[in-house]
Amino acid sequence: MNSRILAVAALAALLTFGTTPSEALNNDHLVYGYECQKGVCKKVELSEENFSKAISLPVCRLFCGEDIGTLWPKPTGAVELERLMKQVDVSNIEIKLLASRKKDNLWNNVENRWMDLIHAKIPSRKSLNNGGYELNIGVTLKEQHDGLPRLTLVTDESYNLSIDSAADGQVSVNITAENFFGARHGLETLAQLIVYDDIRREVQIVTKASIYDAPVYKWRGLLLDTARNFFPVKSIKRTLDGMAMVKLNTFHWHITDSHSFPFEVPKQAELYKLGAYSPRKVYSQEDVADVVEYGRVRGIRVMPEFDAPAHVGEGWQHKNMTACFNAQPWKNFCVEPPCGQLDPTVEGLYNVLEDIYSDMFKLFNPDVFHMGGDEVSVNCWNSSQSIRSWMNAQGWGLEESDFMQLWGHFQEKALERVDRVANGTRTPITLWTSRLTEAPFIDDFLDKDRYIIQIWTTGEDPKVKEILKRGYRIIVSNYDALYFDCGGAGWVTNGNNWCSPYIGWQKVYDNSLAKIAGDYEHHVLGSEAAIWSEQIDEFTLDNRFWPRASALAERLWTNPATNWRQAEARILMHRERLVENGIGAESLQPEWCLQNEDECPIDAYDAQN
Ligand SMILES: *[C@@H]1O[C@H](CO)[C@@H](O)[C@H](O)[C@H]1NC(C)=O
Ligand SMILES: *[C@@H]1O[C@H](CO)[C@@H](O)[C@H](O)[C@H]1NC(C)=O
Ligand SMILES: *[C@@H]1O[C@H](CO)[C@@H](O)[C@H](O)[C@H]1NC(C)=O
Ligand SMILES: *[C@@H]1O[C@H](CO)[C@@H](O)[C@H](O)[C@H]1NC(C)=O
Ligand SMILES: *[C@@H]1O[C@H](CO)[C@@H](O)[C@H](O)[C@H]1NC(C)=O
Ligand SMILES: *[C@@H]1O[C@H](CO)[C@@H](O)[C@H](O)[C@H]1NC(C)=O
Repeated sequence: MNSRILAVAALAALLTFGTTPSEALNNDHLVYGYECQKGVCKKVELSEENFSKAISLPVCRLFCGEDIGTLWPKPTGAVELERLMKQVDVSNIEIKLLASRKKDNLWNNVENRWMDLIHAKIPSRKSLNNGGYELNIGVTLKEQHDGLPRLTLVTDESYNLSIDSAADGQVSVNITAENFFGARHGLETLAQLIVYDDIRREVQIVTKASIYDAPVYKWRGLLLDTARNFFPVKSIKRTLDGMAMVKLNTFHWHITDSHSFPFEVPKQAELYKLGAYSPRKVYSQEDVADVVEYGRVRGIRVMPEFDAPAHVGEGWQHKNMTACFNAQPWKNFCVEPPCGQLDPTVEGLYNVLEDIYSDMFKLFNPDVFHMGGDEVSVNCWNSSQSIRSWMNAQGWGLEESDFMQLWGHFQEKALERVDRVANGTRTPITLWTSRLTEAPFIDDFLDKDRYIIQIWTTGEDPKVKEILKRGYRIIVSNYDALYFDCGGAGWVTNGNNWCSPYIGWQKVYDNSLAKIAGDYEHHVLGSEAAIWSEQIDEFTLDNRFWPRASALAERLWTNPATNWRQAEARILMHRERLVENGIGAESLQPEWCLQNEDECPIDAYDAQN
């Protein structure tokens, strides 16, 4: 599916305004505005005479050119915008839920957050010009549901949005969607059609518009590892805020690892009491519930991962259920320190797992559950005398295939416990690519109707197609484009870290899932970008995710036929919007390039001449 954008007219020769600047040019006013010339916004100086016709940057960019210059991600359906802006009275905005659905707590939260988005546009309440028209927003959900809405693999996230003006001048907006999630996306798009004009110092809205929109891919996610370094809930919420702005819908919470166990499991208190970096660095059950609900308000599923059988360590030290815990030299037993792997031969292990799964299901109510499954070391298991004896007692050898059998045994027994806590609902399970997802083991141990495989090898790895041709659904996180921790100093030695260099937003934008999947694109659920947090914590989180996660979001929502070059001017505008909302997104270019559209790209001059 490619995006189809219908701009009403190709060139905005003149934009009209419902209101004109109330004061003449003086020292406090801007001395420049913008003009749309040949589809590009040009910065021009203003004089007393033409001040009233001046156009602000966000308005110019909204209409100028063939593309809708400020919507991110671009809608996939028809878009019509009339080139006319109107001042909105921000103290007179109302959101109504039509079709007799009553506003609950969830909707109140959605509404409050939306109002915050609008208010964040205003640099100073003091200098905001009063006046403007009333704005009435009606939201209609076709599907009624009891209880809290839950995003699943079959949720229809589409929406229709229309804006019009009544005879008395007030602006009315209708958003129609199948369900809560689509409606929420509609509100997000609406917020992007409302701008602050810093020439007139007022908030303006497009006076007439109609948009139909639906995502191309169902699974649009970010992964955050909160075990290598801890992230306070506040920084996780900031990530969810950014995700909501670009319609990303899955927060994959890699909550534990061998370095720390920050997840409160009341029945297994030792795990987090011993395993967390400090008593303050634990996600309590209230914290988790808070994050899950915060995500729901923003249209985001929060999916937990309990990574096993490798990637465990701290917290498990007294349980006698692990092998090679903190073994040295670590290079012999795992890919990074500290080592640790669950011992599948210990019967009591599965009861502990059930307690962890049980709390995860209770708190997250996941529609898809991630069981990890990456980087299992045969050497680690083989270093344990008791594991070797157990395998001998089964009549197995000690070849690699025997250890794969052991892993398959673990996966089967662990899955039984997942199914028990999920009351037999056969929740889809995600696993990382590994030896287990290769032939012949994948056929022996992983049911294709049950398991979704998350790809983390390179996009060109032939193993991807081997998995696809067997009929598995996949989520793509090819590390060569979507591991956002790549780039930077090494931490187990000098030089650069393992997956250097840093991946630019352009590569993220151009990471085509269709190309990776070839003939099997229909088996691609979508994609996730990942932050593994060995060298990242709350202070450097935002600039690692943003705006690269936005580049991913447009690839997944819109899947444009065009590449990063056509998106460049828009992502600069969009990055300002992230910053406006308190997200410390990285600066991509000098601000001069934002204000002087298409003057910076090296190929632009050639293309125009
Ligand atoms: C306003 O006038 C200045 C100086 O005459 C001119 O350079 C600029 O292009 C004009 N701008 C608009 C928006 O008409
Ligand atoms: C919104 O829906 C109402 C009721 O169906 C209708 O009267 C109004 O014209 C619609 N407004 C827009 C902007 O589509
Ligand atoms: C949006 O409008 C289109 C065209 O009128 C219609 O086919 C579709 O069902 C609408 N979708 C929703 C979610 O209302
Ligand atoms: C740990 O487990 C092994 C076998 O799994 C057993 O031989 C050993 O006695 C146990 N140690 C303790 C302290 O329980
Ligand atoms: C496991 O260790 C034994 C020695 O204890 C060795 O013979 C065997 O080759 C090892 N297996 C693998 C797969 O490395
Ligand atoms: C499973 O059933 C129990 C008992 O009815 C219930 O408390 C629990 O919430 C259910 N779990 C899930 C994941 O549906």
